[in-house]
Amino acid sequence: MIKADCVVAGCRALATCRGPIPKRREALQDAGVIENAWLAGRGGRIVFVGPEDEFRRTVRPEAGAAGIDARRLVGFPGFVDAHTHLPFAGSRGDEFSLRLQGWTYQQLAARGMGIRSTVRATRSATREELRDLCLARLDEMLLHGTTTAEAKSGYGLNREDEIKQLEAVRDADALHPVDLIPTFMGAHEIPDEFRDRKEDYLDLLIHTVMPAVRDQSLARFFDVFCEEGVFSLDETKRLAEAALSAGFGLKIHADEFVPLGGTELAARKGAVSAEHLIAITESGIAALAGSVTAAILLPNVPFFLMQDKRAPARRLIDAGAVVALASDFNPGSSMTSNMQWIIQLGVFQMRMTIEEALNAATANGAYAIREHEDRGSLEPGKFLDLVLCDMTTPADLVYHVGRNPVKFVLKKGKVVVSGGRIVRGDRADSSP
Ligand code: NIG
Ligand code: FE
Repeated sequence: MIKADCVVAGCRALATCRGPIPKRREALQDAGVIENAWLAGRGGRIVFVGPEDEFRRTVRPEAGAAGIDARRLVGFPGFVDAHTHLPFAGSRGDEFSLRLQGWTYQQLAARGMGIRSTVRATRSATREELRDLCLARLDEMLLHGTTTAEAKSGYGLNREDEIKQLEAVRDADALHPVDLIPTFMGAHEIPDEFRDRKEDYLDLLIHTVMPAVRDQSLARFFDVFCEEGVFSLDETKRLAEAALSAGFGLKIHADEFVPLGGTELAARKGAVSAEHLIAITESGIAALAGSVTAAILLPNVPFFLMQDKRAPARRLIDAGAVVALASDFNPGSSMTSNMQWIIQLGVFQMRMTIEEALNAATANGAYAIREHEDRGSLEPGKFLDLVLCDMTTPADLVYHVGRNPVKFVLKKGKVVVSGGRIVRGDRADSSP
């Protein structure tokens, strides 16, 4: 018999998003839905997923095992948000008002607003202040079903403040159920003090900050904003090669506004992901098709910037790229961390099917941060990261727009949201 310390009984429907992972083309159509599903875990990992009769034959709950009656609930893997700029300080509400008056994101950036204004606020914040901002944001994420998030630095833009951001991410990760996967993004923008000597900033990143981040194991990935007016393709290549040889996995913000070849470079270098892709070209799509590099699409960005152009999700899927969906949570171009909304935008604005969007926000999201061995789908051996929603079918997650249906969240087998509220401390059992 399989021993279990946690049992979820009789889910009305469970979208397991089970593998093989990554999912491409038709495989994205299968969300692995099981009706009347039972799920059991032990030591934070899943030991059983399947129907009741098999559960009764094969699983023996240990004395004191936690239990949830899920007969009125629909389950999903905890959402994996593969692209956030979580540790920022300040607000860009003033800039948002200007955008509503017609100013573009790029025009504001050229006038010292945009990323550079968040850099000023983030540099002024202490490590503890940043940690507390992260913790409050992680609560919001968890309440909406996100159980793992990537978190980029990139508002420090010098050694001390980039490290401070990454330390705040590490501190928050240690204190909160949501797991954080850190990315060093010192190449997010050129800081004001290096405006006229960009080469020197590249040298600082490569020779000083990158080694310091690596030596303290503060980030798994390196990311660079390859964009007109930010880092050119040649500069991106130089940074990417340095990062790869320092042992970082590579991510590239590519083809957000102007296609410079960043996507093609990402695929050539075996990057884990190319992200944004609103302005991707045919050659970029061809480069990603069949490559290991995931296409992380961020549909709230064109929505939030009120742009008509969107990443060509359908063409990327049809070409065979690994498509993931993420929030791009940041104060300038995407002030949301709600993955339910991101899934809804994937369907309503990019014409993904509900199954494709679900897989993109879970299994492929995990792949896009190379965490798919441990999470992103509900299968034996993976973490018991589960979202239970008050709804009748998985499709309700998209159909009923703008309502938060999350009732329970289990993180590594522990109930961390119960009745739609965060559970503090170590109260594991929340049988209704
Ligand atoms: O992913 N594109 C670059 N970076 C962020 C925006 C950051 C900001 O505006 O603060 C993005 O959209
Ligand atoms: Fe981003």
